[in-house]
Amino acid sequence: MTPRPHEAARRTTVLRREAVTAAVPVALAALLAAAGPATAAGTVGAPGAGDPYFPLSGNGGYDVHHYGLTLGYDPHSRHLDGTAVLTARATQRLTRFDLDLSGLKVTGVTVDHTKADFRRDGRELVVTPRKALRKGQEFRVTVTYSGTPKPVTDPDGSLDGWIPTDDGAFVAGEPQGAMTWFPANSHPTDKASYDFTLTVPKGSTAVANGVLLGQRTADGRTTFRWRQAEPMAAYLATATVGTFKVERYTTRDGIEVYNAVDPREAAAAAPVVKKLPSVLAWESKLFGPYPFRAAGAIVDRAPQVGYALETQTRPVYDSAPDLDTLVHESAHQWFGDSVTLTRWKDIWLNEGFATYAEWLYAEQHGGKSAQKAFDALYATPAGKDLWAFPPGDPGSGEHIFETPVYARGAMVLHKLRTAVGDPVFFRILRTWAAVHREGHGTTAQFIRLSERESGKDLTSLFHTWLFTAGKPASSCSVAGPADHGPGVLGDQVH
Ligand code: TRP
Ligand code: ZN
Repeated sequence: MTPRPHEAARRTTVLRREAVTAAVPVALAALLAAAGPATAAGTVGAPGAGDPYFPLSGNGGYDVHHYGLTLGYDPHSRHLDGTAVLTARATQRLTRFDLDLSGLKVTGVTVDHTKADFRRDGRELVVTPRKALRKGQEFRVTVTYSGTPKPVTDPDGSLDGWIPTDDGAFVAGEPQGAMTWFPANSHPTDKASYDFTLTVPKGSTAVANGVLLGQRTADGRTTFRWRQAEPMAAYLATATVGTFKVERYTTRDGIEVYNAVDPREAAAAAPVVKKLPSVLAWESKLFGPYPFRAAGAIVDRAPQVGYALETQTRPVYDSAPDLDTLVHESAHQWFGDSVTLTRWKDIWLNEGFATYAEWLYAEQHGGKSAQKAFDALYATPAGKDLWAFPPGDPGSGEHIFETPVYARGAMVLHKLRTAVGDPVFFRILRTWAAVHREGHGTTAQFIRLSERESGKDLTSLFHTWLFTAGKPASSCSVAGPADHGPGVLGDQVH
């Protein structure tokens, strides 16, 4: 189909609820009060990872290496039974630490096989091990829990997490929904490998990330075992359940593809989903080798969701995607999933890049050039939504999925491309994906890399396009060799 390269956010329907911002200052004040003295004491893990947009997401004091999630779900009763086994390392001495978990009933917690005390405090699960954990100690936490998972409502009004559907659940956790279905250190700074053992009624399919290790049906139930070997941020985990048509094959590059498509979406999805291998091959040429051993698509029918998500290895779509959306979620496998942000303020590193991938796809497949896409957007009058805030500074979690992040984020990359030329620009993208593969990247690092690869001072370009409010003036000069003064990096390096 004809790509619509200027299209902004990947919302498939417009979805808005009443603002929920009123409670935020109170929660923030409570957090600051709690976090201050606790951190000072030095043996209590902080209740948040320190992200100002989502202060209680993630936790302090430990790093998770692996999640083993054993879940049983009944789509009819909507009941979930779970056991989560987290393997982690203490980064400080810990007499107490938190996990993120919203709703659900916790029936037991052990630390290194010994019963631990626990209590619930809002969306925090506070765990007190019998014996303090030494700094550097590897430990294992087992949490058993059950109940009816409820999605959370994000600051922008969208549903996030375990979202029930008529035949199962659409499971997508960006930015904070992982806590609705498993206890986690739910901030992107802490990536881990995952094993999933998912049991659903026979006839239903449970699709998670990574490679399918096996599936077995007994006593009217089917258990699916999935392994996500490469590190993954909690928000990118899925365990989507439904009635699906399944297709499996291995690409020429040896990537294991598993597609699960709701039969009601199958006719519309087929022509797009069959392009997945060619889209991944094309993106591999531009961005470097595909970062994971598995791939695929989960095409659900979930009209209440209104967006698709780049769940790692296997994006989840709320309805049959168009080709732009497939290109976008696929590009996120490099930008967002393999190279992950460290604070939500840097969301343009995900969305600007995935949107620019759509522009490039159009340009190289008979559609309009990226320059045309840029020009069309640039014609947008000052005062319109596109210019509401600079993409490098959305201001709060309420705005991270808005037009400036996607469209103006892509415009930043186009300005960079025109400033440094195609060979250097594409080398920057590939180097970015390679250097931070299976890790993290920050905006400051991207700017530094762009300056290093191009030998140009890009201070004013990034300052204007990424960080300055309002519609930028049409010209933006780029000087010769970078002098690496303080400039735009001054307030970004931390
Ligand atoms: N990151 C998703 C994408 O662009 C979109 C997304 C995830 C989203 N969660 C959301 C959009 C919540 C709006 C609201 O592919
Ligand atoms: Zn996106």
